[in-house]
Amino acid sequence: MTENKQSERKRRFGSRSNANEVIADTDLSGKTMLITGCTSGIGRETAKALALKGAHVIMANRNLRLSDELKKEIYAEKSDAKVDLIACDLSSLQSVAAAAKEFKDNHWPLHALILNAGVFGSEQKVTIDGFETTHGVNHVAHQLLVRELLPVLRQSAPSRIVVVASHSHQHSGIKTTDPLESKLEKLCPTSNSGFSTYRLYALSKLCNVLMAFKLHREEHKNNISVYVLHPGSMIATDISRSYGFGAQVMNFFIKPFTKTISQGAATNVYLAGSNEIHDVSGKYWESCWDDEKRLDVALARDEQLQDGLWTKTDEAIEQWENKNKSSRRGSSAT
Ligand SMILES: NC(=O)c1ccc[n+]([C@@H]2O[C@H](COP(=O)([O-])OP(=O)(O)OC[C@H]3O[C@@H](n4cnc5c(N)ncnc54)[C@H](OP(=O)(O)O)[C@@H]3O)[C@@H](O)[C@H]2O)c1
Repeated sequence: MTENKQSERKRRFGSRSNANEVIADTDLSGKTMLITGCTSGIGRETAKALALKGAHVIMANRNLRLSDELKKEIYAEKSDAKVDLIACDLSSLQSVAAAAKEFKDNHWPLHALILNAGVFGSEQKVTIDGFETTHGVNHVAHQLLVRELLPVLRQSAPSRIVVVASHSHQHSGIKTTDPLESKLEKLCPTSNSGFSTYRLYALSKLCNVLMAFKLHREEHKNNISVYVLHPGSMIATDISRSYGFGAQVMNFFIKPFTKTISQGAATNVYLAGSNEIHDVSGKYWESCWDDEKRLDVALARDEQLQDGLWTKTDEAIEQWENKNKSSRRGSSAT
């Protein structure tokens, strides 16, 4: 497959383009897309824009009431929209595995998997399975979802994986000179690692970038394009909700200087839906362009680190699976 070179593409959109503009001339009928975390913020705008252009959107969310509200809002604007909900709590691998199973049981194709959900400074310190929450929700749960849905993405190819990361990945505090084991230990923190909330977030976002580039290396040959992106900085979403009133005040003051939520969703929507970038894969995107100026290239393009993180995460998932199996055996024996 030919690589669609940046020099041959024309940039049509920028930091002020919104989610609807970037796919205004695209018909997404016949495309099925699953998105995590679309009850608020960037994910909500993304799901809506894609559904309004005809995509069958599967919302993988834990908050069923807010999901239902979004569904109704979409149907009010487009009565023949196709929107389905699968319950998925990313702080429980059991829930993620069940969500993937439910998706597969429906025999839907999958043309775009959008890994959007994220937490920053969650009040919950560890997930149900004992992972540090930022790491568990932002990274481990998404790797499990990818792993489970890769066969469907391959069958549905050409297909895409869109990973929502952040420029924060540059602030992981990991040095390129650190030994691989030490890098991996930092990338997979426990709740006792003593890292600040921001550092935990930055590390999880570096995990997102590394996973995306690993998937590109493994899956682009199977006609799956992989994109990783920064949606914009300090967009006034609910991401800092655990900071309460303080976060609301800050959102109010910074709002005039940041992207709107729809502008923040534009790159998600463009990467999931645009026909212009079919052959591009394995790039870091911002404002609908594969602009890698803010990519921590030395860490992000380190293939040993990409492989090491994938393997370490997979082993953690396997340990959880084995524990699960033995506790099921234990309870059936009593
Ligand atoms: N806002 C920014 O300036 C900014 C900048 C860079 C990157 N990002 C990235 O953009 C993405 C979207 O964030 P946002 O700013 O739109 O934040 P947001 O408004 O807080 O949205 C986050 C979404 O993730 C979901 N989520 C959180 N924990 C979950 C869990 N355990 N299970 C299932 N869903 C869960 C939330 O659902 P609930 O309603 O159930 O909590 C919500 O739908 C994140 O990956 C974030 O890192 C945002």
